[in-house]
Amino acid sequence: MAKRKDKKRSAQLFADLNKISANAQPTSTTHELTRMGKFRFQLLHQWLAENFAPCRVADIGGGKGLLAYLLQENGWTATVIDPTHQALPDKYKDMATNKRVRIATSERVPHVNLAFDQSMTKDFDLLVGMHAHGCNVKIIDAAIAQGKSFVLLPCCIIDEPVYPPHGVHWLQCLADYAFGNGCTIHPFRLNFGGQNIGFYSKNQKPGY
Ligand SMILES: C[S@@+](CC[C@H](N)C(=O)[O-])C[C@H]1O[C@@H](n2cnc3c(N)ncnc32)[C@H](O)[C@@H]1O
Repeated sequence: MAKRKDKKRSAQLFADLNKISANAQPTSTTHELTRMGKFRFQLLHQWLAENFAPCRVADIGGGKGLLAYLLQENGWTATVIDPTHQALPDKYKDMATNKRVRIATSERVPHVNLAFDQSMTKDFDLLVGMHAHGCNVKIIDAAIAQGKSFVLLPCCIIDEPVYPPHGVHWLQCLADYAFGNGCTIHPFRLNFGGQNIGFYSKNQKPGY
């Protein structure tokens, strides 16, 4: 029952996000497939590759750095910004083959070992926050202030400086915040379990 309610709520949220993003175009998997929970970093990596040209990306709250690693392997310049430094995983699953791929212990991704702050973004083109704790509003503000693109898959509201009005979902509130501050935003959804709805905004630089 709760699951059905969540599904309904998520569909409504996605419809609302579509409404408020002026030029929204359906960009991703809006149909239901078998959920690929194990592959969230791989799914976001694939989605980024389909929607952005390779560029300098900050993976804010990037945790173990698998997203940054996958991007780096495919020609992007990727840096994790996360105050908690964690080692890369030693393996991940390839989505196409469902086979394990080893990551050599010598592999590294650049890592800024600090809490995210707007002053860190000048050398990046794209700011990514997947479940980036307490960083969503900061990412939107930084992208607006410095003309960057951003991609957000927000999760919880804890430690965020903006709080939704009664009855407004956090994701909707954030989208309103971005929209109200002049961003043209586009919703998207990835095919993994959990908070899998996001939105993005592209700056106007050619190539992005
Ligand atoms: C829920 S985890 C998400 C990790 C990864 N992006 C994922 O999707 O699995 C939240 C991450 O945000 C990081 N974090 C917490 N506060 C932060 C801050 N102020 N700036 C950047 N990262 C932060 C945590 O260390 C943690 O790695």
